[in-house]
Amino acid sequence: MSEYKIIDHEYDVVVLGAGGAGLRAAVGLSEAGLKTACISKVFPTRSHTSAAQGGISAALGNMGEDDWRWHMYDTVKGSDWLGDQDCIEYLCKEAPRAVLELEKYGVPFSRTKDGKIYQRPFGGMTKNYGNETVQRTCAAADRTGHAILHTLYGQALKHNTEFFIEYFALDLLMKNGTCKGLIAWNLNDGTIHRFRSHITIIATGGYGKIYYSSTAAHTCTGDGNAMVLRAGLPLQDMEFVQFHPTGIYGHGTLISEGVRGEGGFLVNSEGERFMKRYAPKAKDLASRDVVSRSIAIEINEGRGVGKEKDHVHLHLDHLDPKVIENRLPGISESSRLFANVDVTKEPIPVVPTVHYNMGGIPTNYKAEVLTLHGSEQVIPGLMAIGEAACVSVHGANRLGSNSLIDLVVFGRAAAKRAAEIIKPEMKHEEIPQSETDKCLDRFDKLRNSHGSNPTSELRASMQKTMQSKCAVFRTEKTLKEGVEEIRDPFKGMDSISVKDKSLIFNTDLVETLEFDNLIRQAITTMDSAYNRKESRGAHAREDFPNRDDKKFMQHTLTWLNDTNTKIDYRPVNTSTLTNEVQYFPPQERVY
Ligand code: FUM
Repeated sequence: MSEYKIIDHEYDVVVLGAGGAGLRAAVGLSEAGLKTACISKVFPTRSHTSAAQGGISAALGNMGEDDWRWHMYDTVKGSDWLGDQDCIEYLCKEAPRAVLELEKYGVPFSRTKDGKIYQRPFGGMTKNYGNETVQRTCAAADRTGHAILHTLYGQALKHNTEFFIEYFALDLLMKNGTCKGLIAWNLNDGTIHRFRSHITIIATGGYGKIYYSSTAAHTCTGDGNAMVLRAGLPLQDMEFVQFHPTGIYGHGTLISEGVRGEGGFLVNSEGERFMKRYAPKAKDLASRDVVSRSIAIEINEGRGVGKEKDHVHLHLDHLDPKVIENRLPGISESSRLFANVDVTKEPIPVVPTVHYNMGGIPTNYKAEVLTLHGSEQVIPGLMAIGEAACVSVHGANRLGSNSLIDLVVFGRAAAKRAAEIIKPEMKHEEIPQSETDKCLDRFDKLRNSHGSNPTSELRASMQKTMQSKCAVFRTEKTLKEGVEEIRDPFKGMDSISVKDKSLIFNTDLVETLEFDNLIRQAITTMDSAYNRKESRGAHAREDFPNRDDKKFMQHTLTWLNDTNTKIDYRPVNTSTLTNEVQYFPPQERVY
């Protein structure tokens, strides 16, 4: 591969991804005096965290009594008993400190009259173990992610994190089961960069773009997850894909759950507030899996609105316009732009839309990556955080506003753990040349492919299959068909067409590399879903409508080799770090 100019670097830690998790880790690492590189394929403040609207959960108790134990109970229950309780305990206990740190860093939170951080109600967040709604979600209007991202980027620069912006990561560099760094392509000048690091932290976000309709940005292609698969490591719980109840109909843009938190509600074609039938207690603020399924049932049973009766309405026109102006300015603008709706006068047409991947790279609460070789093992040198990781604090279903808190709590945890592991005298080892060759062979093969299948067509075929065969409701038949069909676009890569052969801002090649990453995750998602013969959280099987704790209170681990998957299971961790609290599933689900 002599054609490629390779530039070598050495860092204590390389963080891949500059969203909320990556930046929070980078700040902590740099503050600890570790030589830190942060690599991102987009400018940091364009990372997808900027799209997070409604807020970040933490039991601060600014708007009434709250307790981290209640937050923990809600998160365990919301996960439909698939979340690991040691990790959830860590998340909920550390959350208040992590949010106050953000405040100190300068995040411009909305404020109460007495100057405290404003908190709004969100789905599944309750007081006193499910008794009543609590205001736990800290908000910067409806642009919370944007506010956090900009603040953390400023802090990372202040602490001298070194940024490699518009670099596309290709593969991990592994030696004897240890991660030694990664290789990336500089989109700006075409050079190839080999980063040697004591620790590599993957913070590349989710892979929502395996679906056609998604709130995810075009860049959400789970690049780090695919690198892990290609390194021969498994991904966890990939079958759990969250549909957000309120994406704008026909467009997919997110309308924050904060709208329902501020008093908005859903209605069907009969003008009925149907959520009270499905979740008499929580109603419109039931957890997302419940609300999305309820909307899907309303539509399937003919009570959808519009010509095609294929969506429902979200009303906030009854709210005080001042509340809308101050707390929901972003969604007012999106509704006007993408649905031509004035939210003070008319309802927003909405439909469940893919929003979040609960599955990802398995880790413990210190962000260390795990695999299974008979027993659970840590992969030295490799960490994962944020949506790319499966800690697992969200289990089968994530509660709204638990994503932003996951980013900062585990971003911080990764930095703390790395500072414990890395000693000043540590030297970088040589990495076998075969790792670089393997990585560049794949890159070169895709770049020089002259086939007849445009990447866009293969991607469309993958998205169509995922959307129709692995949707809100799943059956043996649809999944079985899906398992077969989803392999076609992968095989189509044998004859893929990349027209642009250059190395400078070659978006044709970037999209092809992204597709290669996506299709691997689509296959693992479909196969994991087919194998889980129960309903739990976001995974709703019409043919297996009940949760089966005896057989399936376990994490799915999926390895991929070519188009063949290998599936194994790992027990859910029901013991906690301090054994202060521990929760067990009831027989009946109550919403
Ligand atoms: O609805 C929302 O504002 C999204 C929040 C989240 O996914 O956590």
